[in-house]
Amino acid sequence: MRRKDFIKLSSLFGGGLFSGASYGGNRNPKSSNLHPSEAINNAGIQGSMFDYSDAPIEKVRVAIVGLGNRGSTLIEMLSWLVRHGHAEIVAICDVQTPYIDRAEESIAKFQTSAPRRVDGSSDENAWKTICRSEEADLLVIATPWRWHAPMAIFAMGQGLHVATEVPTAYTIEENLEILKTAEKTNRHCIMLENCCYNEEELFVLNMVKEGAFGDLTHAECAYIHDLRQLLMDEKYYHNRWRLQQHLERDGNLYTTHGLGPVCMYMDILRGDNLSHLISMSSNEASLSKALRESEDPSLNALANQVKCGDVNTTLIKTEQGRSIMLQFDVHTGRPYNRLNKLSGSGATHYGYPSRLYKDHGPTWNMHKWEDEEGYKEHKEKYTHPMWSRLQAQISENDQGHGGMDFVMIYRLIRALNKGVSLDLNVYDGVLWSLVGALSEQSVALGNEKVHVPDITNGAWKTPRIHPVFREF
Ligand SMILES: NC(=O)c1ccc[n+]([C@@H]2O[C@H](COP(=O)([O-])OP(=O)(O)OC[C@H]3O[C@@H](n4cnc5c(N)ncnc54)[C@H](O)[C@@H]3O)[C@@H](O)[C@H]2O)c1
Repeated sequence: MRRKDFIKLSSLFGGGLFSGASYGGNRNPKSSNLHPSEAINNAGIQGSMFDYSDAPIEKVRVAIVGLGNRGSTLIEMLSWLVRHGHAEIVAICDVQTPYIDRAEESIAKFQTSAPRRVDGSSDENAWKTICRSEEADLLVIATPWRWHAPMAIFAMGQGLHVATEVPTAYTIEENLEILKTAEKTNRHCIMLENCCYNEEELFVLNMVKEGAFGDLTHAECAYIHDLRQLLMDEKYYHNRWRLQQHLERDGNLYTTHGLGPVCMYMDILRGDNLSHLISMSSNEASLSKALRESEDPSLNALANQVKCGDVNTTLIKTEQGRSIMLQFDVHTGRPYNRLNKLSGSGATHYGYPSRLYKDHGPTWNMHKWEDEEGYKEHKEKYTHPMWSRLQAQISENDQGHGGMDFVMIYRLIRALNKGVSLDLNVYDGVLWSLVGALSEQSVALGNEKVHVPDITNGAWKTPRIHPVFREF
């Protein structure tokens, strides 16, 4: 970050723009007046959790906190692993008693032992009692965002590995604290970025590894998902926690589904790194319109309070000179899309629907996507070996977003069983989440360039084949 930017940012920090109040949520995570690089330098990050492996765990004892929409899916995804003796759900916790009942019923369908119930309905910190290393090996966190960091940090401190839903955290400070704690305690802390395990993304990744894209130059990715109805629903998100985020923050609030796979394509943290970004939010129109037109008067009253612009666009430059366009829009009425666009000197891929263009050189003037047959040929040739290997299990467990949720949980539990490093390390999850916090900074600075700090102490410079290519 240039000195000019730093001074501006410092004055914003000092002026309270990045104080807990602006980050919202009841717990108000705090921000300091350090700019990101300085905060990282002062944090003493070692980069020691790269390729970290721990002792094998024959049967992983899983505690789960947050049994809402996502927690329920994750329980389903664990059922195959429980039935095959690789895992056991030992404790469950939520602040809503009916959700604990529902989870208990669901677990009883595939597990003979009942998990310990921790009811947090009268104490929102009751979850701490499921973080006991004598009872559990792994804490799975599927709560609202503001809880991810405190829960992950506490659990690692108690000796548990952690798998947290996306994002790891949404402030720089909390993300740093997660890194520091993982390094200090030697505990895994993986962010459950399921889109990295989707068939299409794995296919593109395999093509990249096999050289079909040539030299990568550019990617476009996104989280475009019309969530207006769910954001306004009284029950879907507990206490409308997710709507609250849109009243209090402006920037990219959900970076990881789009950015995670692209970072895998581009060897980010395994030979390349994110260097800097510029982020811009559009004006806000669609969510406030929906709130204004709602039949619920309490929602009408919020219509003038929406802070998050409808469309946030972030441009990211990598150390190797590549560019990434990352978008976020959960306000506008339009079809779901993560874009999944990738270009290189050898090929281009666009997602939604998946299309492929193989470069045949400058004299080729058939500017058309591969036809059905050509696409199929590539698909057969480049389907990721992990997806092919797990085909039987995937077809048994395709409820979680077409199989990707199962593959993600399978890989996590089996890596812990075998005592090998995880596919995604704490630096991956933190980096992809940090981009959200940095996009907010850039937006608040009038779309100025913001430096992405090195969170690995230089470990990113070592080229590594991505761990999702390991066979197990
Ligand atoms: N990877 C994906 O595809 C995907 C999909 C949906 C949601 N998510 C993520 O999952 C997380 C949860 O989202 P959701 O849609 O399930 O929300 P949700 O509101 O349905 O579930 C959150 C649950 O956490 C519980 N909770 C809140 N505070 C708690 C506390 N202090 N102690 C114990 N329980 C507490 C709530 O009662 C609720 O049941 C979010 O981080 C979200 O980003 C990921």
